[in-house]
Amino acid sequence: MKTIFAKFSLLFILFSMLLLAGCERPPIEAVQHGYRGTAMDEIYNPRTLAAQAPNNVVPASYPVPADGPKAATAYKNVKVLGNLSTAQFTTFMVSMTSWVSPQQGCAYCHNVENFADDSKYTKVVARRMIQMNQRINSTWQTHVKQTGVTCYTCHRGNNIPQQVWFTAPEQKQGNGWLGNKNGQNTPSQSVGLSSLPYDPFTSFLLKDSMIEVNGDTALRTVNKRNIKDTEKTFGLMIHMSKSLGVNCSYCHNTRAIASWKESPPQRATAWYGIRMAQDINNNFMVPLTAVFPAHRLGPTGDVAKANCATCHQGAYKPLYGVSMLANFPYLRGTDTTTAASISGAANTAVK
Ligand code: HEC
Ligand code: HEC
Ligand code: HEC
Ligand code: HEC
Repeated sequence: MKTIFAKFSLLFILFSMLLLAGCERPPIEAVQHGYRGTAMDEIYNPRTLAAQAPNNVVPASYPVPADGPKAATAYKNVKVLGNLSTAQFTTFMVSMTSWVSPQQGCAYCHNVENFADDSKYTKVVARRMIQMNQRINSTWQTHVKQTGVTCYTCHRGNNIPQQVWFTAPEQKQGNGWLGNKNGQNTPSQSVGLSSLPYDPFTSFLLKDSMIEVNGDTALRTVNKRNIKDTEKTFGLMIHMSKSLGVNCSYCHNTRAIASWKESPPQRATAWYGIRMAQDINNNFMVPLTAVFPAHRLGPTGDVAKANCATCHQGAYKPLYGVSMLANFPYLRGTDTTTAASISGAANTAVK
């Protein structure tokens, strides 16, 4: 009798271990985020936050050097940063090297026999990346505010940012079944290891598909949402939560998820973030496809693209909202494009 009991308790212990394996070890911290009584608490794990902190330290940078002879006249092939003084230009080259290619140095982008030469693809990409930075910091202040971004926000000392995405190749059902899996039931980090479609990015951060679950009317006839669209929407939402290290309630009052009136202001910032990601991917990354060597392209031959995690990397604001732009004012740019005139952004309006 005793041994049977022992066996059962052993089984019970094993079973509860399995059951709890998916849970996080306490203590966790709950921080009130919404109005009192709405139960919109943010749940944080202090250990995750502690592990994340060192990745969000802003590197030291040089103060802006004095004005002087312009780079446009001093050098041969300067197309974007011509307005900088040569001292500012050189300081920027050194900073850019520490942000993108600290191991390889200047030679990562330059033929060091002739710095004016554009034969390395990395230099061509970098020039466009400078323009992309200026566009983000000038046109997308609805999202990045005055904080803005530099190369470091995404690259953090790596040639390729740690979080990029490619379009997932079409995946057939197993065992000769007809149809397409739509990226489902294959747990992937991109959607928090859920069984949701793991590539919500092509639909929402490249194309401008409707991000919606609830219709405005019962029995809709136009823009009907089917289960597939719904699951993709949830896939994107999980990606957004994971990328920022927050719960759904950071942007939604979960008693009325779709209601903008009841949503915290962060949801509107996120709305612009989605359109900004579309702009980055369609107008900067995709046109660079032919510039990249084949080994940098994805399984369908597409270029690596940005999503929320590329900048945020688990933090509610990249680098906890510390701006690096004071020492790099020219990265603020003078792009005069308005966000609304960029393809994609104009098609949907905040409800
Ligand atoms: C991540 C890529 C990258 C790295 C690393 C880099 N550069 Fe550059 N460099 C560029 C780009 C892009 C331009 C052109 C800028 C423009 O068109 O406004 C440029 C232009 C130059 C020019 C002007 C050449 C001419 O005559 O047109 C000089 C000089 C230069 N870089 C020096 C350096 C030095 C020195 C280093 C290392 C400390 C360095 N660069 C590291 C991308 C890079
Ligand atoms: C919004 C995020 C973001 C920012 C900001 C950003 N980049 Fe990039 N960068 C990317 C992505 C995405 C790629 C594509 C990754 C790949 O090469 O496969 C990339 C690729 C590159 C590459 C090619 C690397 C390689 O080995 O293929 C260079 C060089 C580069 N970036 C330089 C810069 C410079 C210089 C800046 C700042 C002026 C900058 N980037 C800012 C996202 C960013
Ligand atoms: C960083 C902010 C943010 C987080 C976190 C977030 N959402 Fe969203 N959510 C949005 C935005 C913005 C939209 C509207 C997108 C649009 O219209 O382009 C949206 C839309 C939705 C919709 C569609 C509503 C409709 O109109 O039908 C649902 C459902 C949803 N979110 C669920 C969730 C869930 C579940 C989570 C947690 C896993 C979550 N969201 C986390 C910002 C967020
Ligand atoms: C190019 C880099 C970049 C990308 C890509 C990006 N963000 Fe951001 N995001 C920022 C910066 C910088 C801030 C800080 C702005 C500030 O200081 O208030 C920010 C702030 C936010 C905030 C406000 C946080 C708060 O507490 O006020 C939300 C919400 C947010 N981002 C959501 C998103 C979502 C969702 C995506 C993907 C669809 C995304 N971001 C993509 C750079 C980026």
